[in-house]
Amino acid sequence: MADETTAADIVAQLEALEREAQAQLAVCAAEADLSDWRTTFLGRSGKVTQLLRGLGGLPKEERPRVGQLANTVKGRLAGALEAQQALLKRGQHADTLKSEALDVTLPGDPVRLGQLHPTTQVLNAILGVFERMGFQVVEGPEVEWDHYNFAMLNIPSDHPARDMWDTFYVDADATKNFGSMLLRTHTSPVQIRVMENTPPPVRIVAPGRVYRNEATDASHEAIFYQVEGLAVDERTNMGDLKGVLTAFARDLFGVNTRVRFNCSYFPFVEPGAEVSISCHVCGGNGCRVCKQTGWLEILGCGMVHPNVLEAVNYDPARYSGFAFGMGVERIAMLKYGIDDIRYFYNNDIRFLQQFR
Ligand code: PHE
Repeated sequence: MADETTAADIVAQLEALEREAQAQLAVCAAEADLSDWRTTFLGRSGKVTQLLRGLGGLPKEERPRVGQLANTVKGRLAGALEAQQALLKRGQHADTLKSEALDVTLPGDPVRLGQLHPTTQVLNAILGVFERMGFQVVEGPEVEWDHYNFAMLNIPSDHPARDMWDTFYVDADATKNFGSMLLRTHTSPVQIRVMENTPPPVRIVAPGRVYRNEATDASHEAIFYQVEGLAVDERTNMGDLKGVLTAFARDLFGVNTRVRFNCSYFPFVEPGAEVSISCHVCGGNGCRVCKQTGWLEILGCGMVHPNVLEAVNYDPARYSGFAFGMGVERIAMLKYGIDDIRYFYNNDIRFLQQFR
C-alpha cells in the first residue's frame, strides 16, 4: 500500500504542476516560448497528460473526481495560454506603433495656392458693379468681321476714323458678305451683335480681349481687356448715362469720387464723352499720378448714334441708348497705382503675388 498513489497525491501534484506551468507561462516573451510551453505542459506527452496516466492506479470511485479536476486544470492552462498569447500580441502591436511612430504635430509643407490674375480680379469687380445695376454679361468673338468692328458702328471703309483703331487683319482677301476678318479692336461690335438678336430694352456689359497694332510702351499693350456697356430703351437719356457711370466710379474708387464728362468723338455715339474721375491719390490737388491735372481719364462713352440704331433696325424715333467702353488694365492701374501696363503680361510672379 505504501507505494500506491492516492487521490490526494495526484491532486497535490496537479496543483504543483499548475503553479509551475503558470509561473513559466508568465515569463514566455515570444511566440516560440509559448509553443514550447504548450508542448511541455499540454502536449500529447506533456506533463499534464503524464499525470493523468496515473489516474489508472486510483480506486474506481476516486477517478471521476480527480479526472474532472485534471480537466479543469487543463482548461485553465489552455485559457491562460490564450491570454498570454493575446498579451504578447498587444505588446508587439505597441512596439510596432512605437517604431513606426509618425509625429503628426509637425507642420506640413505649405501648399502654394494660386490666385486670379489682377486683370481678372478687376474685371470681376467691374462686372459686379454693373450686374448689381441690372446689366447682363454677354460675350462676343475676338476674331471679328470688319462689318461688326467698323461698318455697323458708323465707321464706313476708308473713313479716317478707322485710323483710331489700327489692327491685325486675319485674311485681307476674305470678302464674303461682311468683308475681311480682323482681331477686334474694341468690344463695341458686341453691341451690334446683341441688338441684332434682341429687341429693346437691352442692358448689357461685354467683357473681353481686344487687339491693336501698337508699339507697346508704359501705357499701351497690343492685347488688353475692355468692358463694353450698352443700355437701350424708350427715353434713355444722357442723365441715365451720367448716373450709371457716376455710380460705377464711386463704387470702384470710393464714395467721394467726383466725375467729369468731357466732349469727345467716337463715330458710334453722339454726343460722345470721355469720363474722368477726381484723382484718388491726391484728391484732385495735382500729383505725379494725375500729371498735376487732378483728373484721371477712365473711359469713353456717349449716346448711341441714330445711324447705329437704324443699322440694327431699332427705330431711333422711339428708342435711344447710351454706350461706354473702358480698358480693364487701365482701371486696375489707376486703382492700384501701377505705372506700366506691361507688368500685367510679363508674368513676373513678384508683381502678380501682390494681388492676393
Ligand atoms: N470702343 C471705344 C474704344 O475702344 C470706347 C467706347 C465705347 C466709346 C462705347 C464710346 C462708347 O475706344
